[in-house]
Amino acid sequence: MARKKIALIGAGNIGGTLAHLAAKKELGDIVLFDVVEGVPQGKALDLSQCGPIEGFDAKITGSNDYKDIAGADVIIVTAGVARKPGMSRDDLIGINLKVMKAVGEGIKANAPDAFVICITNPLDAMVWALREFSGLPHEKVVGMAGVLDSARFSHFLAEEFQVSVKDVNTFVLGGHGDTMVPVLKYSTVSGIPVNDLVAMGFSSKEKIDEIVTRTRGGGGEIVALLKTGSAYYAPATSAIAMAEAYLGDQKRILPCAAYLTGQYGVDDLYVGVPVMIGAGGAEKIVEVELDDEAKANLKVSVDAVKELLEACKGIDSSLA
Ligand code: APR
Repeated sequence: MARKKIALIGAGNIGGTLAHLAAKKELGDIVLFDVVEGVPQGKALDLSQCGPIEGFDAKITGSNDYKDIAGADVIIVTAGVARKPGMSRDDLIGINLKVMKAVGEGIKANAPDAFVICITNPLDAMVWALREFSGLPHEKVVGMAGVLDSARFSHFLAEEFQVSVKDVNTFVLGGHGDTMVPVLKYSTVSGIPVNDLVAMGFSSKEKIDEIVTRTRGGGGEIVALLKTGSAYYAPATSAIAMAEAYLGDQKRILPCAAYLTGQYGVDDLYVGVPVMIGAGGAEKIVEVELDDEAKANLKVSVDAVKELLEACKGIDSSLA
C-alpha cells in the first residue's frame, strides 16, 4: 500500500512541530509548505536528520509550490499571522482571510480529496472561510480547537484532583476563545462527574470556577509568557490526534469545530461540538442534552462566532 501523504500549510512553530510528530508516528510522507522561501526546506532537512536517530522513514520535504501538495490525504493549515500588540481583531481577520483564500484555492486545485484540519485563528471564522474558498465537502473540513481546549481543562483538573491525566475526560463546546463552554456535567474522572468529585471533597466549586476561567484564557496565558508567539506543542499534538482518527477510521468522538446544519440550534456556522471522526471525515455530530446554563453560554459563544463571520463577509464580498 502506498504511503499516506500529509501536507502542512504553514511551516512556522506549529507546522514544524506537526511535521516532527507526524514523522515520529510515521503517519505518512510529509510536505511542509510555506510562502517564505527556504524555511520549509530548511525545517524539512533538519527534521529529516532526526530520522536516523529516531528511526523513522517518513520522507519530509519543503516547498513553496502548491503543486507539491497534490494528492495529499490530510492537510493541516496553520498559515497566517498571530495577533500582535496593537493589531485589531479586524486587522487580523483581514490578513488571515486573504491567506485562507490562497490556501483554499491551492487545496481546491491540487488536493480536493484531502481531509483538511484548520488551526489558523480566529479559528471558527477561518475554518468556515477556508471551506468556502476550497469548495470541499463540509465534512472534509474541520477546525482544531476543542481537542486543545479540553486538553487544557483536563490538565488543570488532573492537577487539582491529583489524579492521572489519563483518567480525566473533559467536554467543551462553542467557539475557540474566551467564550468557549466547558461543560461540567460531561466532564469526568473515570466516569465520575466533576461536580460529584466536588461533593466528595476533592475540590471546591470556587476552585473549579477558577479552572474554567483559566481554561478559557488558556491560549492568552501562554502568549503572555512567551511574549513573541503563541502555543504550539499542544495545538500540534491536538491536530495530530484528529489526523490519526481520520487516517485510522477510528470513529473517535472529539470536540472539533464542525459545520452545523441545525444541531444545537445553529445553522451554517462552524462551532465546536463533539464530532465522530472516521474515514468519512466529520461523520456525525453528537448532539447532547444541555442544561439552561450551558445553553445560555453556548448562545453567547455562537453569537461571537457570528460576529466574526459578519466581519469576514464585510471584508470579502465573495463570502456574503
Ligand atoms: N501561505 C502559506 N504560509 C503562510 C502564508 C500563506 N499565505 N502566510 C503566512 N504563512 C506562514 C508564515 O510564513 C509562517 O511560517 O505561516 C506560518 C505561521 O507560523 P507562526 O507565525 O510560527 O505561527 P504558529 O505559531 O505556527 O501559529 C499559526 O495557528 O494557533 C494559530 O493563532 C495561530 O493563526 C496562528 C496559526
